Amino acid sequence: MTISSLAKQLREAMHVVVFTGAGASAESGIPTFRDALTGLWERFNPAQLATPEAFRADPSLCWGWYEWRRQKVGQAQPNGAHLAIAELAKHVPRLTVVTQNVDDLHERAGSQGVIHLHGRLNSPRCIDCGHSYQLQESLEDLPEEGSRIEPPRCRACDGYVRPGIVWFGEMLPEDAWRAGLEAAEECDVFLSIGTSGIVYPAAELPLRALGHGATVVHINTVRFDVSSQEHFLQGPASARMKSLLQEAFGDIPAL
Ligand code: APR
Repeated sequence: MTISSLAKQLREAMHVVVFTGAGASAESGIPTFRDALTGLWERFNPAQLATPEAFRADPSLCWGWYEWRRQKVGQAQPNGAHLAIAELAKHVPRLTVVTQNVDDLHERAGSQGVIHLHGRLNSPRCIDCGHSYQLQESLEDLPEEGSRIEPPRCRACDGYVRPGIVWFGEMLPEDAWRAGLEAAEECDVFLSIGTSGIVYPAAELPLRALGHGATVVHINTVRFDVSSQEHFLQGPASARMKSLLQEAFGDIPAL
């Protein structure tokens, strides 16, 4: 599919879904998970940091790691991809942003109603009673990678506060998953941006969209195999999204 034919489909779409992974935040300086050398899972062991067992085994190591990630996000800025996605909402009748990312860069770029399938760094809760916990805005300075920070205690039951992240082996938030699925099955165009597409059930969404007749486009710096009915725009998310919007809707000064 050429950029101009995709642009035409965007102009004619009644409902567009943008589905993002860590690659959408990469140009903001936020590490992805599986990029060679720089990916978080290349440098850290998810079994030690991203499971309920890991947290119970070493709450301070786990909490410190997520605070380090939260502070990196706090010091980052939305990039051109986030801005283009927020801008896209002004040009189509309905845009649904479904993200696997736990940062708030879509929101800070102006996207609204973002569906977070894997939770959010800014929404910790008590591991025992589920009470939400209000984080202090930001730590004085960025904790060192791997530093231990004692998690805060729940004000209601004194249990440990855990990151509001969906860990491996945990279910996705029911409402988020249902909303993401409904959008995927109802949209005309599904843009999958910056995801390796290997973590389920999130990775099912493009397939559900395809199964319902949507035009599915993957935007990624690295080419990977997709079915013959899917499309691929290879390149960085910010550049590809900016040129796609300009092709579809004319020059957009905001980008
Ligand atoms: N523009 C577009 N794509 C990019 C960019 C960029 N600037 N930089 C990297 N990418 C691509 C990589 O090629 C890779 O395919 O983004 C993808 C990131 O893949 P992952 O690191 O696997 O991240 P993601 O797909 O979001 O992982 C899904 O896995 O560990 C869990 O819960 C975690 O939400 C995460 C889930």
